[in-house]
Amino acid sequence: MKRMRLGNTPLEVSRIALGCMRLSDSREQAVATIRAALDQNINFFDHADIYGRGKPEEVFAAIWEEVSGLRDKVILQSKCGIRFAGDPDERAPTRYDFSYEHIVRSVEGSLRRLKTDYLDVLLLHRPDALVEPEEVARAFDELHKAGKVRYFGVSNHTAAQIQLLQTCVDQPLVANQIELNVIHTQLINDGIVFNRDDLGVMSRSEGTLEFCRMHNITIQAWSSLACGVVSGKAIANPEARIERTAALVARLAKEKGVSKGAIVIAWLLRHPAHIQPIIGTTNPERIAATCQADNVELSREEWYSLFEAGRGGRLP
Ligand SMILES: NC(=O)c1ccc[n+]([C@@H]2O[C@H](COP(=O)([O-])OP(=O)(O)OC[C@H]3O[C@@H](n4cnc5c(N)ncnc54)[C@H](OP(=O)(O)O)[C@@H]3O)[C@@H](O)[C@H]2O)c1
Repeated sequence: MKRMRLGNTPLEVSRIALGCMRLSDSREQAVATIRAALDQNINFFDHADIYGRGKPEEVFAAIWEEVSGLRDKVILQSKCGIRFAGDPDERAPTRYDFSYEHIVRSVEGSLRRLKTDYLDVLLLHRPDALVEPEEVARAFDELHKAGKVRYFGVSNHTAAQIQLLQTCVDQPLVANQIELNVIHTQLINDGIVFNRDDLGVMSRSEGTLEFCRMHNITIQAWSSLACGVVSGKAIANPEARIERTAALVARLAKEKGVSKGAIVIAWLLRHPAHIQPIIGTTNPERIAATCQADNVELSREEWYSLFEAGRGGRLP
């Protein structure tokens, strides 16, 4: 697995990462998933405090007993900023929360569950409408000084929201994790349909892709496998664009002698922004098959054909 630099950090990360949102509660199965990723030379693991109400972080910690000396060889990322109902007290509703107290408390929880002294990367999960950048800065400074978090980033943020944080946050924001896959192309498509209301699509991403490229903020793609719907998972009444994309994915996979999932991920890797796909499969065989993407080179023609199929129409 080829490595890449995460943002402007010195961290050398695998260009495909394992998302741990769906990690099994069973220690045996979770360890098998993590081992399958390590076997592919994946060294980057994505978590969030809210996934499975903390279970995936907890079960992930089993790997420290299974593989000795591993902690310093892997990059652990977690997220905070979404509170579930019942947290911090039983009457509390679900809320976005970038308050100092919530950020610090969330990190303490992740460290405890992951049985580690530090997170390599902490992301703010979803924009909080009531964000106070000064408060985020105070939390980040404290966590950084205490050695509890090495680097910081965001998820689901626009360029303007990142810039707002940067007015106060001294640490560089090194990653922005966004939903992106061959059938969820908005981040890329927005730059193509700019100024074309006649296409019925208004640009909503505010140049976020370009902003991240210019400022060396790694775009991480979540749901990078499109949950399997164009690489073999059957769904009821698929849209025509999904069927067309799945057919093209299948043809390219056959031509190149790789799995369909590898084609789906290769589409992201082909983009010059050095996008890091976060794959959420927990199936060891599928992890290996998907990682074949590391050796797939899609031509410009192939990339655009998949883009057109996935977006559901020819380019203007
Ligand atoms: N920042 C955010 O807001 C955010 C939101 C959601 C997720 N994430 C992150 O992104 C990661 C990936 O997200 P994701 O899991 O939603 O997306 P994904 O990687 O697109 O999909 C993984 C799911 O699709 C299934 N799948 C994939 N290929 C398949 C196939 N050919 N046939 C049948 N099933 C197939 C997997 O099942 P198997 O396990 O059986 O293979 C798994 O349930 C998460 O783990 C998390 O770390 C971030």
